[in-house]
Amino acid sequence: MTTLRYCTSFDTSHTWAAIMNLMPTLPLTPDELLTTTRSVRKRLDLTRPVPLELIRECLEVALQAPSASNRQGWQWMVITDESIRRVIGDYYRQAVESYLKSPRSATALFADDPERNAVQRRVGESVAYLGEHMGDVPVLVIPCISAPNLRAGSQAGLWGSLLPAAWSYMLAARARGLGTAWTTLHMRYEKEISELLGIPADIRHGALIPTAYYLGDTFKPAPRQPGRRPPHQHLVKTPTCQRWWSLEQPQTLTTR
Ligand SMILES: Cc1cc2nc3c(=O)[nH]c(=O)nc-3n(C[C@H](O)[C@H](O)[C@H](O)COP(=O)(O)O)c2cc1C
Repeated sequence: MTTLRYCTSFDTSHTWAAIMNLMPTLPLTPDELLTTTRSVRKRLDLTRPVPLELIRECLEVALQAPSASNRQGWQWMVITDESIRRVIGDYYRQAVESYLKSPRSATALFADDPERNAVQRRVGESVAYLGEHMGDVPVLVIPCISAPNLRAGSQAGLWGSLLPAAWSYMLAARARGLGTAWTTLHMRYEKEISELLGIPADIRHGALIPTAYYLGDTFKPAPRQPGRRPPHQHLVKTPTCQRWWSLEQPQTLTTR
């Protein structure tokens, strides 16, 4: 049985109501869902199979995302075949090895800020772990979109027609007890992976999303920068009125 799916739409016999009844979701508020959908790497359960119906359900949710002109030009590769996962995993491992040695590596960032660099080092360790295990993750999802040319002027409309759906997929997965991680390092081998999967050259990848049940109980919101930096680093210049708007004090407008 082939377990490689190249999906643009799903069997319409799955009505929305029927699908949504298949798998109960976790009791999370919208804000809890949005703030606890973490990049799961070390806590991916590499041994527990994930039912394809559950993936289908997450993708049905994803297809509710917006797309330019309502084109819905997204396509989804859902890869469960072990031998194919291993090949993708090998490409991913090579990409991670190269990334971790580079100055753009998470570990190398913010070297002058010990507190922040400590977080970055943990991210780097986690990235390295996934680099070793991408091929072991039971389901790999590659959201794709037709892009015969990647002209500068069309980027926002193009990726804006795919990436919100990909994030919705990850949120839907989290709501169903699955862990995911947004990854892009495989893009270095996008062409090779497309050839492996039979994806035409004009169809481009948006991400590679490992998907598995997760180990442990739950996830917490992550510390983010805006609360810790001095206010002047969070000012937004509005082009029309030449003012600065502090994100930390949104009521206060000060002239430049
Ligand atoms: C555009 C983009 C590309 C990313 N690429 C990778 C990647 O290739 N590998 C990886 O392990 N994580 C990748 N990440 C995940 C980030 O490292 C992660 O979002 C960040 O460390 C914050 O952690 P959190 O998602 O748990 O809040 C990527 C995230 C984004 C938005």
